[in-house]
Amino acid sequence: MPQLSFLPVILRETMARQGFPREPEPDLVMEGPEQVAAYALAGRVDGEMGASYLFHAAHCSQTIVGARRVIDLGCGPATQLCQIAKFNPDTEFIGVDLSSEMLETARAHAKACGLSNVDFRQGDISKLSMFADASVDGVISTMALHHLPRLELLQQCMREIARVLAPDGAIYLTDFARLKTLRSVLFFAYRSEASQPRIFLLDYERSLRAAFSYKDVEGCLDFLPRSGLVTTFMVPFIFILKTQARQLGPEQKQRFSDARKSLPRKYRADLDDMRLFLKLGGLKGDPFSA
Ligand SMILES: C[S@@+](CC[C@H](N)C(=O)[O-])C[C@H]1O[C@@H](n2cnc3c(N)ncnc32)[C@H](O)[C@@H]1O
Repeated sequence: MPQLSFLPVILRETMARQGFPREPEPDLVMEGPEQVAAYALAGRVDGEMGASYLFHAAHCSQTIVGARRVIDLGCGPATQLCQIAKFNPDTEFIGVDLSSEMLETARAHAKACGLSNVDFRQGDISKLSMFADASVDGVISTMALHHLPRLELLQQCMREIARVLAPDGAIYLTDFARLKTLRSVLFFAYRSEASQPRIFLLDYERSLRAAFSYKDVEGCLDFLPRSGLVTTFMVPFIFILKTQARQLGPEQKQRFSDARKSLPRKYRADLDDMRLFLKLGGLKGDPFSA
């Protein structure tokens, strides 16, 4: 049973005729120490983004099964990346970000997690010149593409992904799609007003305002023809552009199921809503059903 507070948003978004114009992020990269710290904190297992991180860690793991070298575009503080790396110890991961402040936090986090399969490069995700053609077997990205200031740069990023990816390589790209009304933006951004610092909430609002439209993302499929696009049911709020799910082993499924159970109750409800709305939106395979 999904959380009832979503109902007005679903009604409003399905009834609204047109949206509002995209407002690119005021800061291209996330450099402010306070901003970086608030974002990193929200990503802890018991933090605001814990459910979303676990959801994407599981589905991403299911998509990259067997990949040896995977790059993460806009890795930020690497909370998500390190979680994926922990679940996939045989895969080598490289996080790419333009922000030196983020990369410093990311390196410290990977070290604290005791991971030896994660490395980092400073660079622009729309110019992956540090990677040779067909040199990686997976490209992932979570909540970072909306930082690209223009649609042409998103398309350039897609061209670069197609270039660096080996044939049969895996793709898992997820981010927000632009909502139709500012009221819905404010609903999601300030849902956790009581528990999150103002800077995190503002950051969230800006991300939702900067999100590309569903149509813009759909157009990206032209660059990545082996991929499909799914979104949350009825309201394209979160999209996942990905290649087909592969077979997870029973042990890994058990680990995802256990990790779900260990989430605080509130965030488990968020995770289950993501599972439901994305399943209804066309996402195949449920890595949490051990
Ligand atoms: C909202 S954070 C997402 C971090 C992480 N992927 C996650 O899911 O938590 C977006 C990150 O993208 C980075 N970024 C923005 N534009 C970029 C670009 N053109 N090239 C590389 N990184 C970029 C920002 O510095 C920031 O760390």
